[in-house]
Amino acid sequence: MSTYRVEEVGDGFYVLRVNDRYTRFFEALWEIPEGITYNAYLLKTGEGDVLFDGWKKPFAGMLLDALEQVTSPDRLRYVVVNHMEPDHSGSLEEVVMWAPGVKVLGHPMAGRMMKAYPRAKERFKPVRDGEVLELGGERIRFIHTPWLHWPETMMSWIETKDILVTCDAFGGYGVFYGLFDDECTRWEDALRAMQKYVVTVIGHYKQWIGKNIAKLEKLGVKPKLIAPAHGLIWRRDPQRVIELYKELGEAQAKKGKVLVVYASMYGTVETMIRRITCELSRKGYKPVVYGYTDSTRPYIAEILTDAIDAEAVILAAPTYEADVFPLLRLAAEEICWKASDGKKAVIVSSYGWGSIAAKHLRKIMEGCNYSVVETIEYNAIGPLAITSEEARKIAEQVVAALEK
Ligand code: FEO
Repeated sequence: MSTYRVEEVGDGFYVLRVNDRYTRFFEALWEIPEGITYNAYLLKTGEGDVLFDGWKKPFAGMLLDALEQVTSPDRLRYVVVNHMEPDHSGSLEEVVMWAPGVKVLGHPMAGRMMKAYPRAKERFKPVRDGEVLELGGERIRFIHTPWLHWPETMMSWIETKDILVTCDAFGGYGVFYGLFDDECTRWEDALRAMQKYVVTVIGHYKQWIGKNIAKLEKLGVKPKLIAPAHGLIWRRDPQRVIELYKELGEAQAKKGKVLVVYASMYGTVETMIRRITCELSRKGYKPVVYGYTDSTRPYIAEILTDAIDAEAVILAAPTYEADVFPLLRLAAEEICWKASDGKKAVIVSSYGWGSIAAKHLRKIMEGCNYSVVETIEYNAIGPLAITSEEARKIAEQVVAALEK
């Protein structure tokens, strides 16, 4: 069951959070057994209230229930749309119908998408980068933070309270880790869920993480509380999530971590991968292995989570219909799209009638800034078609390539 919470998290500043236990594939793509939250926030002022963002459309009715606990249609003066993606804006029309006098604020580019919400569009007022809203003793500065996650995305800096409402940025997946950073008892899981969120949602634009953090620093934004639209609210140590995001934006590698992704239809490639991972471990590497086989199918979101901080990637696939085995091709393309950052790649491929998969995989990986340091092809069908001595040589060749 999806549940919601309404809590005062600062003086007159409330979180309205729904735990979405319904969505299994975020953006219809990313596997999220850990769930996801949508966090809206409400600021009370001496002259009425301001709502920041909202919830995905299926939860619009619940959002109105939550709003009624902390404000009223007459008191709600503004809805700030920091980001137009429907996981936050999906309930906007219902909120405007509930509070018809409300004004809707967002970056000028958000206006282009407001046609999805006709009543909200009528109430829309664009706010420029750096513009300040003064209301009832509070000052809210709107800071354009493009590509975190869309080009229109902005943050709301409540200067009078040192609270930064950040929408997607500094967020993470997961409904199980508590409301605040200081309540979290499952740090390892929470941080992995955050890393997974960053790479799947923002990974393609990750160079904008550092640029936007630098912009905030230049503006002198030093939040005491970071209030993202997904996951934990950071009040004990807001700088921690800023540093974590910086590291992920730079795709910083963990020493020795090697991501191995393979596909194996009849065991030929899998047998080779066992030998390669054995050799990697013997040499002190820490391989993280995902295999597509007739009994296993890894989550692409988990592969990407391990791709972003791996030192190197090994991709191994059979040839299939004169091309790369299709699921491995998809994995390679997504790694390129979301996690690439000039790291090493090794390609291993088996073939029966003609070698071609390795060439195609190499083209994919070189097209996205990976440095392909070795490509190995071997002719074999079935795990016994290659001798132990041949397997040993290939495994040593792979490891030697990583150490070049
Ligand atoms: Fe959480 Fe880009 O929306």
